[in-house]
Amino acid sequence: MQAKITAIGTYAPEKVIDNHYFETFLDTSDEWIRSRTGIVERRFSAENEYTSDLSIGAVKDLALRYNKDISDVDFILVATVTHDQIMPSMACQLQHRLNIPNAAALDISAACAGFGYGITLARSLIHSGMYRKVLVIGAETLTKVTDFTDRTSCILFGDGAGALLIEAAEKGNVGECIAGAEGSGGQDLYLSTLSTQVNGTPIQANNKIVQNGRAVFRWAVTRMAEAFEAIVEKNGLTKEDIDWFIPHSANMRIIEAICQRVGFPVEKSLESLSKYGNTSSASIPLALNEGIRAGKVKKGDKLLLLGFGGGLTYAGTVVEWGL
Ligand code: COA
Repeated sequence: MQAKITAIGTYAPEKVIDNHYFETFLDTSDEWIRSRTGIVERRFSAENEYTSDLSIGAVKDLALRYNKDISDVDFILVATVTHDQIMPSMACQLQHRLNIPNAAALDISAACAGFGYGITLARSLIHSGMYRKVLVIGAETLTKVTDFTDRTSCILFGDGAGALLIEAAEKGNVGECIAGAEGSGGQDLYLSTLSTQVNGTPIQANNKIVQNGRAVFRWAVTRMAEAFEAIVEKNGLTKEDIDWFIPHSANMRIIEAICQRVGFPVEKSLESLSKYGNTSSASIPLALNEGIRAGKVKKGDKLLLLGFGGGLTYAGTVVEWGL
C-alpha cells in the first residue's frame, strides 16, 4: 500500500499580536521586524491554552471539513518542542482526549523539521503494511518558551497547529522523502531545561529558546538549497515540475535566499510567517492550508515541503495534492 493525504486541518489561538506590541518594551520597530523577517503579526496562546489544546483544534478542523471519522486512526504522531509535559507524551494525551482507543502514540522531537519527519514516518509506517491510518500533527506554543528580553529572537515566534490525515491507498500521493540531521550545530538553536551543555559547549538552561540567528540563517540557506535539489532528484523530477515550494516559515529572507540559490521563483512559494510568525512544526501545514483556502493550491499540484530547524534537523518530500 501507498501513503495518501486525505485531509488537512489547522488552528491558531485568537489573540493577534502585531509588531508594534514589541515597541512598547524593546528597542525595536515594526519596520525592522518586517524588513528583516517578513513577519507582520503572530498569535499568542492564552495562559491556560496549551499545545494539546491547539492540536485538538487542528484535528477537529480536519475532521469537520473533510467529514472524516478519526476514531479508527491507528497511529498518532505529534511533532512539537513545546509539549504540555514530556511525560505523558502529547500523542498519548491526544489519543485519550480525541477518543482514538486503538492508536499507537508517539511524539517527535525534531523542532521545525518535525512535521517533515512526521510525514516521512507516516509514509514508512503505511508502506511497511503495519499501519493504515496515521494522524500527523505539528503544534507549538512557542510563546510560552520565548525569552522576551531577547529582541533578536522574541519577535520571531508564534503559536499554532496543523494536522494531516495520511491513509493507506492503492495509489498514494506522498513521494520519496529525505530526512537528515547535523547535530554539530545543536548549540546554535536550543531550548534547555536540564543539562547546561550541548555538544560539550556550555549553555543556559532556562527553558527559553536561545539562538545564534546568523549561524542558523547561513546554515538554512546553504543546506536547504541542497536539500531542495536532493528531494527533486529523488522523486525523478526537475524544479520546473514543482508548483509550490512550502518550506518551514522561519524568515522570508531565508525563503528568498533558498529560492535564489536553487533558481526557483519565490512567487511559487507559500508561507505562514507573515500572519503567524515562526510556528516551528506547525508552519508548513499552516502555509499549506492558507494556500488551499486562497485557491492557490489545486488538485494535481506538486508541492515540495521542506522543514528545517533546531538539532539541526531537516526533512521533506514532494506531495501531489489530491484534495
Ligand atoms: N530590532 C531592532 N534591531 C535588532 C533586533 C530587533 N528586534 N534584533 C537585532 N537587532 C540589531 C542587532 O542588535 C544588530 O545591531 P548592531 O549591528 O548594532 O549590532 C543588527 O540588528 C543586526 O543584527 P543581526 O543579528 O545581524 O540581524 P539579522 O539581519 O541577522 O537578523 C534575525 C536577525 C534573527 C532576524 C536573523 O538572523 C534570522 O532570521 N536568523 C534565522 C533565525 C531563524 O529563522 N531561526 C529559526 C530557524 S528554524
